[in-house]
Amino acid sequence: MVARTSLWLDRIDAQGAPLVPAHAPLVGATDSSAELADPHDVVVVGAGLTGLTTAVLLARAGWSVLVVEARRIGAGTTGRSTAKISLLQGDRLSRIAKHHSEPVLRSYVEGSREGMDWLLRYCDEHAIRYQRRPAVTYATTGPGLVRVDAEATAAQAAGLPVDWRDDLDLPVPVVGAVELADQAQLDPMDVLAVLADDLVARGGRVVDGARVRGLRRERSGGYTVLTTRGDTRCDTVVLATGTPVLARGGYFARSQPQRSYALAARVPGELPRGMYLSVDRDVRSVRTTPAVPDGRAGVANPGAGGEVLLVGGAGHVTGRGAPTSEHARRLARWTERHFSGAVVTHAWSAQDYASADGLPLVGRLVPTDGRVLVATGFDKWGMTSAVAAALVISAELLGDHSPGWAGHWLPWRPRELAKGTGHVLRWNGEVGVRAASDWLRPWPAVGERGVPPEGQGRVERARVRQPEAVCTVGGVTRRVSAVCTHLGGIVSWNDAERSWDCPLHGSRFDPSGVPLEGPATEPLDPVDPAGAVKFRAVPGEPAPESVVPPGPTG
Ligand code: FES
Repeated sequence: MVARTSLWLDRIDAQGAPLVPAHAPLVGATDSSAELADPHDVVVVGAGLTGLTTAVLLARAGWSVLVVEARRIGAGTTGRSTAKISLLQGDRLSRIAKHHSEPVLRSYVEGSREGMDWLLRYCDEHAIRYQRRPAVTYATTGPGLVRVDAEATAAQAAGLPVDWRDDLDLPVPVVGAVELADQAQLDPMDVLAVLADDLVARGGRVVDGARVRGLRRERSGGYTVLTTRGDTRCDTVVLATGTPVLARGGYFARSQPQRSYALAARVPGELPRGMYLSVDRDVRSVRTTPAVPDGRAGVANPGAGGEVLLVGGAGHVTGRGAPTSEHARRLARWTERHFSGAVVTHAWSAQDYASADGLPLVGRLVPTDGRVLVATGFDKWGMTSAVAAALVISAELLGDHSPGWAGHWLPWRPRELAKGTGHVLRWNGEVGVRAASDWLRPWPAVGERGVPPEGQGRVERARVRQPEAVCTVGGVTRRVSAVCTHLGGIVSWNDAERSWDCPLHGSRFDPSGVPLEGPATEPLDPVDPAGAVKFRAVPGEPAPESVVPPGPTG
């Protein structure tokens, strides 16, 4: 039996108790009315690592802080991360070096180092478990070797003491690798649990199951944040939602949503001890994690040494990788081929955003408004970048001196914006072509192919020429508009996670059309039985967790 959730979220669920006993924000148990009715100095949108770290830093300074989370703590990228805390990040340094000067490259590493140092210090102070491990970038192919070589050069230029390796303890034919000693890994939900507890102890609040739908600037000053569980007033807003949920600033056009897959497996025998990331065409991330002491479902019989194997990879642009279940299966097949006797216990996926110029975007949502701040563009390296972003945002809001490197992370740095122009043009060109071809595609007429089988969905053309999305999940067939409520893309079926994903900017919706993540804040329109889009739905309950069916080994 494969659990269709991340190992980290499953561990939390298996505990059967709220993450923060005093406040119970993880289980949808919050009574939001009181929290939302009170005005706050700041509303932080998103309860992942960026949001909760920012919230704690501001609460420490005496600010009244409300965190508003659409689903539950850790439900976004943080709770699905492979949680490597490393300054060597696959081939990211050489990709940055390709477009930026050496000082910019160094500023990225410096910011990441500050994020890493803060996080590990916080772990030490709060007895959060983490493991020191070497980080390794490796290749199994000739083209990959060229990238490893470039990464070694970039890492040295950035001042990182990397070593070259010809052999690794991985069961794959490695042709070259670069290693950085003394990096770290952890269970990200351990950190979020302590941060949430810390925040509540300092008077902060978390409301979960409240999706932000918009922001209204008040004439009297400050903002009203509109959520599905009520509106709330504040002076300042921090958007820590992966990509900003507000259209202002056009971040959806300056970044690309990426989905990637991960699994946990029990493996007999010794496991490799490092944190490995390949730079071949088909990227693979490999690390281990200690089995939990109480041996919950799925990790009751870890491999020798009490470790569980984690494998990640098979990424693609959100909404464009159909059938998505094949990506999850490919990862499972790779694991079983290279780790004899592996039994997959968990399979999940995550979404993250790459910025056009390759650097994180942290600062004002728009240059003229210092009261709405944003953090995005972590490109799968949020364990360091999220904390660094929180340091930058809190310094800006508290009027503290911003670290020197933060200038290169600003969303509106003119010279650096120019560096991403090529990517922006290419990405938006692809988006335009995809949007046009989807609208012109001869979708089958409604009902022509009958009801989709369990776990499947497809787009159909209604007689009013509105594309509709129909799927069957849990024995229930649902029909909603196929038109994304962000900017009108046609959603595609994600059979790995049973969701509707937009191929333009990565918004995702559950089978009934409720937004899950991405820039869209409104649900897909329902349709009446005659097949016409009838009215816009009022957002309902918090979306259920997405799943990764069927078993990736199947
Ligand atoms: Fe932008 Fe769907 S996410 S159109």
